Amino acid sequence: MTLFPGVALVTGAASGIGRATAVSFALEGCYQVAICDRNLEGLVETEKYMREVSATCDILVHQVDMLLDDQIEGMVQAAVSKWGRVDYAVNAAGVIGNNDRSTDTTSQQFDLINGINYRGCWLSSRAELAQMLKQEPLPTHDGRPGSKGSIVNIASQLGVVSRPNAPAYCASKAAVISMTKSDAIDYSKDNIRINCVCPGVIATPMTQGDPEFRAALAPAIAIAPMDRMGTAQEIADACLFLCSSKASFVQGHAMVVDGGYVIS
Ligand SMILES: NC(=O)c1ccc[n+]([C@@H]2O[C@H](COP(=O)([O-])OP(=O)(O)OC[C@H]3O[C@@H](n4cnc5c(N)ncnc54)[C@H](O)[C@@H]3O)[C@@H](O)[C@H]2O)c1
Repeated sequence: MTLFPGVALVTGAASGIGRATAVSFALEGCYQVAICDRNLEGLVETEKYMREVSATCDILVHQVDMLLDDQIEGMVQAAVSKWGRVDYAVNAAGVIGNNDRSTDTTSQQFDLINGINYRGCWLSSRAELAQMLKQEPLPTHDGRPGSKGSIVNIASQLGVVSRPNAPAYCASKAAVISMTKSDAIDYSKDNIRINCVCPGVIATPMTQGDPEFRAALAPAIAIAPMDRMGTAQEIADACLFLCSSKASFVQGHAMVVDGGYVIS
């Protein structure tokens, strides 16, 4: 039996961690996956990768801007119109910070980073929760009690510890961790699980796009005892575990997947 008999929804699915998560859902036997992002071209490419690993996965490609409340509500409604429910939601859409101290950061930069990383994640999670509240639990892989749904928000190691020149980004990710814990408390009685993953430095277009930024990451990579970048697949693996019924007693957790960065 598949670990994922329900419907998955992934934001930020046009690239990096969101793409790897969407492809993993398809590979691991989830047959209904909504892939959502503002980048339609990237989504079409992700869909192609998903089809390469699964001939049977039903895929919904949905363009959405995390800055727009109505579009985020519409994203969840689109999945519900197609399949009637949403069981696993991974909220991965996000942007990198402006790489400046607070006195060199404009309020517009602050609002944009927090608007996508924190507010957009909250709006996504809120819309997913509203749907999960209405649905019945699905059967699980081994007969243990199932949940009405499982949400994984993507935070960051930089929500746990800070680095220079990133107050807006670090705060946006600390907020995601805190929101995750608050929601986990509120919706436990409704049989919904909410957790987050805190990636370390991961090789995705976010970190690899700009050669100058890539070079500046070397000291951060060296802080982690494992002394390497992680892969998007390594983050997707954590997301799928938390979504699955193997994590049936994991609630409100901020799972750090960072090669040991925050312990050193
Ligand atoms: N790569 C890392 O080292 C790292 C480390 C810690 C946390 N993260 C977090 O992981 C998540 C995924 O990052 P990634 O590394 O895969 O980056 P990425 O740039 O490869 O992917 C981010 C995706 O988010 C989408 N997105 C951005 N703004 C959007 C908006 N307004 N509306 C809809 N979609 C939007 C982009 O189009 C893109 O497809 C982000 O939340 C990021 O902050 C990444």
